[in-house]
Amino acid sequence: MNESKAPPKNIVLIGFMGCGKSTVGRELHQKLGYPLVDMDQVIEQRAGKPITAIFAQNGEGAFREMETKLLEELNAPNPLRRIISTGGGVVGSAGNRALLRRLGYVVWLDAPMAVILDRTARNRERPLLDTEDPVARIHALMEVRRPLYQEVSHLKVDTAGLDSGELATGILESARYFFAQQV
Ligand code: S3P
Repeated sequence: MNESKAPPKNIVLIGFMGCGKSTVGRELHQKLGYPLVDMDQVIEQRAGKPITAIFAQNGEGAFREMETKLLEELNAPNPLRRIISTGGGVVGSAGNRALLRRLGYVVWLDAPMAVILDRTARNRERPLLDTEDPVARIHALMEVRRPLYQEVSHLKVDTAGLDSGELATGILESARYFFAQQV
């Protein structure tokens, strides 16, 4: 079979800020040896500045354009299997959601609200939460995004009580099963 026509076999991690996408992504990368694409990091490298500065100087719209462009590039035919960890707002547009589904196996990492609040309170590198009432903002964003994560994912993983190694092992098993079913 022509490799480039085969369905892509990337593992794509989606989910809200603070749900462990980057950590689990690194763990999967170590276990599998597939290259890791951390979309936020790539965008920061390309822009030559942190995400907070992109938002402050260029606006959220510019960040979202960079995010979509990167998703399009990742969708270019490529026989490489990759681990792709995304930013929490990547599911915001229907176009992005279609691109995510085409990339491979989409895993939604979810966490209880208390965990998200705790983790996001510990760093200030998230411009969307740099508001007077970050807790209200998190609740509002979650309400909008939950159905979108649900819609786009093949698998939902509740991360509570599991460490990143355990999460990666479980994801790996189900990804293997998923890809084995694909022709
Ligand atoms: C965002 C989440 C961030 C980053 C940007 C916007 C969001 O990524 O992409 O600050 O809209 O939820 P993490 O989910 O890795 O924090």
